[in-house]
Amino acid sequence: MKILIIGKGGREHAMLKACQKSKLVEKIYVLPGNCKMDGATKVDIDMYDIEKIKNFAIKENIDLTIVGPADVLALGIKDEFNKNGLRLFGPTKSATRIESSRYFTKQLMEKLKIPTTKYVVFTDREQALKFVSGIEKFPVTIKIDSIPKNMGIFIARSNKMATDIVNEIFDENENSKILVEEFIIGKEFSIFALVKNSKVYPLQIVKDYKRTSDSDDAEHTGGMGACSPVAKITDNEIEQVVEKILKPMAKSMYEDGYGFEGFLYGEIVVTKDGIKVLSFNARLGDPEAEVLLPRLESDFVQNILDVMDDKEPEIKWNDEVCVGVVLASNGYPSKEKCQDKINLVPIESNICFMGVEEKNNELYAKGGRNLIVTAMAKDFEKARELAYRDIEKLKSDSFFYREDVGKF
Ligand code: GLY
Repeated sequence: MKILIIGKGGREHAMLKACQKSKLVEKIYVLPGNCKMDGATKVDIDMYDIEKIKNFAIKENIDLTIVGPADVLALGIKDEFNKNGLRLFGPTKSATRIESSRYFTKQLMEKLKIPTTKYVVFTDREQALKFVSGIEKFPVTIKIDSIPKNMGIFIARSNKMATDIVNEIFDENENSKILVEEFIIGKEFSIFALVKNSKVYPLQIVKDYKRTSDSDDAEHTGGMGACSPVAKITDNEIEQVVEKILKPMAKSMYEDGYGFEGFLYGEIVVTKDGIKVLSFNARLGDPEAEVLLPRLESDFVQNILDVMDDKEPEIKWNDEVCVGVVLASNGYPSKEKCQDKINLVPIESNICFMGVEEKNNELYAKGGRNLIVTAMAKDFEKARELAYRDIEKLKSDSFFYREDVGKF
């Protein structure tokens, strides 16, 4: 089979490695991919140019396309591929709304009585400013409704901070829609499932380390590390999430005429008042995929094809845990970001490359999350020891990493 992977970061690198293990696969293309995605043919097409991607898939007889980023799905790539008889694992434009509109998903959860954070929605700057200036209990979370490049999630710890965040969002786009949400604490985890219409096949759970450090006021990022599985989350809690959250969501979307096919991703918090959903996404997480997929023992491509073909996939996991630590540029995510050379010495752990480029045969950071080192072992202590031993070898004064990934 010929596989096309769309995206260019660590998640897509992890997908590439999973596809490379598949017995079904002869050739893999990455579009656009990054310079360190070895073994794949890179396709120099803009990943938002759906027409060109479709033509490429037809010309090269691609058997299966897998999409990483949600903003590509939100453009309707699945709809375009469907029209042309091309197979793509990912949701249609209307099903991607569970990620591309946070307000839409809140309404759907309300309809299904799925517990989630309390929120207020605003499309008017002045009304939002009036509301946040009257808030008495902090922190609160402010989210942009759509899928902006920087995640669009901000934690405000004072009226002044909330006011500044609201103004920055509306300065950037006067037509913004924002949600001001209660901030909840508890045991957090990400859950993924392979889904087709009302059929839901859960994968393993993952913990994403979202802030730049373990300090409460550290900045929110795309994820500074991840581990799988997640200690202190019980089988019963996972079952509740699958039965009472993922399955009703998938069933409702199907019954409402926009059945979901692809990776369904829930961000969950077990609070003292019970399990709550922070958000839904329409793809695999990044860096969650980088620690999830190495644990998959069954054939990734076969599992996906079975779901698409309405067959029960045989999903198997190995017994080891996986810990992944991201090496990010100083200044990430909000300040001036360093784009220095990465000293890529040989290490034993696995690496998935995120934002990197080659110049004169040397590897350079692009200024955000650059790479993730992942290590597997029988327990978290050993996996941490391996991952941190190796990331230490790659670190220099230009980069930083979080020190508590996989520590419970
Ligand atoms: N790690 C968070 C995300 O992929 O959205």
